[in-house]
Amino acid sequence: MNAQPNLGMQVTTFENPTGIDGFEFVEFAAPPGRAGELHALFEAMGFGAVLRHRSRPITVYRQGEVNFLVNEDPQGFAADFAAAHGPCACGFAIRFRKPAAEVYQAVLAKGAEPVTAKPESRAVDAPIIQGIGGCMLYLVDRYGEQGSVYEGDYLPLPGAAPHPPGFGLTFIDHLTHNLYLGHMGQWADYYERLFNFREIRYFDIKGAKTGLVSKAMTAPDGIVRIPLNESADPKSQINEYLDQYHGEGIQHIACFTDDIYATVEAMRAKGVAFLDTPETYYEVIDQRIPGHGEDVPRLKKNKLLIDADRETGKKLLLQIFTQNAIGPIFFEIIQRKGNEGFGEGNFQALFESIERDQMRRGVL
Ligand SMILES: [Fe+2]
Repeated sequence: MNAQPNLGMQVTTFENPTGIDGFEFVEFAAPPGRAGELHALFEAMGFGAVLRHRSRPITVYRQGEVNFLVNEDPQGFAADFAAAHGPCACGFAIRFRKPAAEVYQAVLAKGAEPVTAKPESRAVDAPIIQGIGGCMLYLVDRYGEQGSVYEGDYLPLPGAAPHPPGFGLTFIDHLTHNLYLGHMGQWADYYERLFNFREIRYFDIKGAKTGLVSKAMTAPDGIVRIPLNESADPKSQINEYLDQYHGEGIQHIACFTDDIYATVEAMRAKGVAFLDTPETYYEVIDQRIPGHGEDVPRLKKNKLLIDADRETGKKLLLQIFTQNAIGPIFFEIIQRKGNEGFGEGNFQALFESIERDQMRRGVL
C-alpha cells in the first residue's frame, strides 16, 4: 500500500470508480534558455534533483511525495507548450489504484479528450488525456508498492537521496486552474463525468473592485482537489493571468506541510518571495478565531494566514502564497489541522485588514 500522507484530518471520500489516489507529479517547461529559473526555484523551495531521464533532458525534483519535473526537451509537446505560454506547467499526473490502461479506456468512453502528441513527447510512459488549457493529464498506476512510473526511463542522479525531506513539503494538496468566463461548467462536468469528482465548495469572492467565482472540485479519494476559477471582470486577477499565460491553465500549486512555520522559514532563508500580509490582519486573529492556539508573533513574522471552518471555528488551516514564480503561476504552502477548505475566510479577512489600513491612512 502506498504510504498515506499525514493529512491532519479525516478526508471526505466517496465512490471511486477509477481508484483515483493522489497526485503523482506536475511537469514544467520554459522557453529556450530559461529552464535555469525552474531549477533555481525548486532548489530554493527545498527540492532535490533525484532522477534524470536516460536519453532526454528531463529532471525529477522531489521533496517528500511531491514530484516536480523540469522538461527541457528542445522539441516536442513541452517545448511547444512553453513557446505558446512562456514558463509553464505543461502537464500533471494523477495516480490510480486500477490499471492505467483500463482507466484510460473507461474515461475515453466517457468523453475524455485524447492527446495527439507523439508518445516520445511524454515525460513518462503512461496514458494521457487532455487537461485544462490543452495540458497533458497523465494517468499513472505505478507508484508505492507497484514500483515507480520513472523506472526504466530514469536513472538516479549520483549522490541524490531517493526521498529528500527538503523543507518539509509532503504531497500536492490541490491544483487550482483559471478558466475563461463560461468554461467553468464544462470543466467541472469533465472531471465529474470522468472520475466522479464532486463540487465540495463554491465561492463568490468580491474584492473592492473585482471578483471571481470558484468551484472546488474534489476527487473521490478526498485528496486530489482541482478548484476552478473564472471571472466576469476583465481587470480581475483571473483575466490578467489568462492574458499573460495566453490561455487557461494552472493558477497555483498547493503543497502540504506538517510544519508550515519551519517550511516557510527555510524557504525564506533561500530567498523564496511570498506575498505580504498587512500588519492589521494580525490585530483581529484572536477575535476571528478564538482559542486558535497558534503562536501569533511567529505567524506575523512569517506573514502566515490562518482560517477556521465556519461550522465549529475549531478546524484550522494555515497557508501562505508565493509571489508569481513561473510566469503567472504561483505556489501555496498549506497545513491543514482538520480543515478541508481552501482558506475562504482569509479573502474577507484580508480585504477588511486592508480597509483598516486605508482608514488609518485617511483614505476611507
Ligand atoms: Fe489554494
